[in-house]
Amino acid sequence: MTDQKFNPSQKFVQNANISSSSIYNEANADTDQFWASQAERLTWFKKWDQICQWNPPFAKWFLGGQINASYNCLDRHVKGSKGDKNAIIFEGEPGDSYTLTFNQLYTEVCKFANVLKSLNVTKGDRVTIYMPMIPEAVIAMLACSRIGAPHSVVFGGFNSEALSNRINDNNSKILITTDGGWRRGKIIPLKKNADKALENCPSIKNVIVAKRIGDKMDCNMSKGRDLWWHDLTEDISDQCLPEHLDSEDMLFILYTSGTTGKPKGVVHTTGGYLTGTSSTHNIVFDAKDDDVYWCTADIGWITGHSYVVYGPLLNGTTTVIYEGSPDYPEKDRFWRIIEKYGVTVFYTAPTAIRTFMKWGAERLLKYDLSTLRLLGTVGEPINPEAWLWYHKHIGYEKCPIVDTWWQTETGAIMISPLPGVTPTVPGTATIPYPGISIDVVDETGQPADMGYLVIKKPWPSMLRTIFNDEQRYIDTYWSKFENFYFAGDEAMKDSDGYIWILGRVDDVLNVSGHRIGIAEVESALARHPAVAEAAVIGRPHQVKGESIAAFVVLKEKFEGSDVLISELRDIVIKGIGALAKPDQIFFTDELPKTRSGKIMRRLLRDITSGQAIGDTTTLADSSVIDTLKSKC
Ligand code: PRX
Repeated sequence: MTDQKFNPSQKFVQNANISSSSIYNEANADTDQFWASQAERLTWFKKWDQICQWNPPFAKWFLGGQINASYNCLDRHVKGSKGDKNAIIFEGEPGDSYTLTFNQLYTEVCKFANVLKSLNVTKGDRVTIYMPMIPEAVIAMLACSRIGAPHSVVFGGFNSEALSNRINDNNSKILITTDGGWRRGKIIPLKKNADKALENCPSIKNVIVAKRIGDKMDCNMSKGRDLWWHDLTEDISDQCLPEHLDSEDMLFILYTSGTTGKPKGVVHTTGGYLTGTSSTHNIVFDAKDDDVYWCTADIGWITGHSYVVYGPLLNGTTTVIYEGSPDYPEKDRFWRIIEKYGVTVFYTAPTAIRTFMKWGAERLLKYDLSTLRLLGTVGEPINPEAWLWYHKHIGYEKCPIVDTWWQTETGAIMISPLPGVTPTVPGTATIPYPGISIDVVDETGQPADMGYLVIKKPWPSMLRTIFNDEQRYIDTYWSKFENFYFAGDEAMKDSDGYIWILGRVDDVLNVSGHRIGIAEVESALARHPAVAEAAVIGRPHQVKGESIAAFVVLKEKFEGSDVLISELRDIVIKGIGALAKPDQIFFTDELPKTRSGKIMRRLLRDITSGQAIGDTTTLADSSVIDTLKSKC
């Protein structure tokens, strides 16, 4: 922690969209009215009859209102003065780059919406999108939203099994993918992964394949099922009227990890989600007409949904999309992009900042980053050293930093400084967004300096349920405390009311800002024929925040070896994706368990960190501790 406080500069305050703390009083005085004023920034086909209906734990927002996401992201800008403005700047990994104006994006979205219609996709049908970071992914999302078909985007880094599980959970009718994508000079074979996934996905009627790689990539097109994007869009009308959707119609499903092996399909609906993302993008990122805004997240995550696609496009902001990774072809990829396009607002993850720190500030000297005026972070706590480095070397000590706390489930930013108002302190996301009621409470739900982070009132962009699993929605978020949303994070509140996020309190890891369920990794490992049992823990890691360590008990007649370690890593990569790969795998004859047979992961964490071993009284057999200590 640090005591250093940074006030917004006079220059920033003078031009800020919000420069007075009165917005908090306004929102506190009448929260529903505050959200209604934010919703009014959107174009509604029919205005709502009621702002909010709170039937704990179920909320509805802007009841009776009719709206369309793609209309709000496109048509109204095209009809206004922004038709020729860049909506998307695309920077591909092999060096290809192009832009799409709002007019062009509008045309492509209308055409693709007509393609979906021609394949009998109608309102309410789910569509899975499994694509790299290319404009077609955004076109696909907006086309779905235009016709009222909820999209389910699956991160392109996930593998076939993760893809098929997600498709089968929501019975998607259509899969949209590409022949492949580029990452660090290699081709990620998305269509091949998809083919494998589809061996077990009876609901998929058609696969639409966009060409990203071209001749270098063989694509096995299954007759009658698989169709090329370019063929389908060739002769199709570029006019498509947007569906008038109910505010509470589902906009998308996005899967996230939880405490069990099965990912949760978080459901977001239209009016509330659009209100939350457009409001926060406008206020937290101080959106201006001439901004070149770049959020480095992948559209496979909520950050990509809310702050690469919906937030900026709702506000008519130019959004940069990049394919690949920060270190390829060189470790200066990000700075080149910022300089090339004159990026003004930059939003990334602490793990990326720590990586840049490791690579050294000298790399930055060649580049002019002076166009930047505002920086943001998301995904995990940012350590003050990384914050200060970001401030100095990227922000040239003039850019406010917004450390934003939120989740897949919250849809939009929940805790963050307002850049023209809130003094920042490195390491804390500061205070809740106007209209958001957040607190830190103890086990009994009473306010505390340290404890669980809870949200006390419904907010427009909150998840509505878990797809097809209402009970899990109730159990996960609304059972620990009566009528408070339980976020799963531990936090501290200081004397200024600033909130410091300490980390997850459930069995979820945060590796490089990605949420990974312990149970998912354990069950992937357990699928190897040699494995009797596996326990997974997170270990503090300087760059990733947390890294994964696995303790594996082998079946009789199997022996631990380097070959087996690489097979086990592979099985996790194949089952989930490279992001869930354990950095360390230890073989052991036994795991520490309670007498009732529950694995005590806490002890495994103590052992690997070399810390004093905590309470072992519930341990069935204490000799296991010494055995494990000798291995780590
Ligand atoms: O633990 C918190 C952490 O990321 C979790 C949410 O993960 P996900 O749903 O994947 O969404 C990530 C991007 C919104 C939270 O429960 N987290 C997110 N932002 C922060 C954070 N932890 C500390 N500081 C943040 N700014």
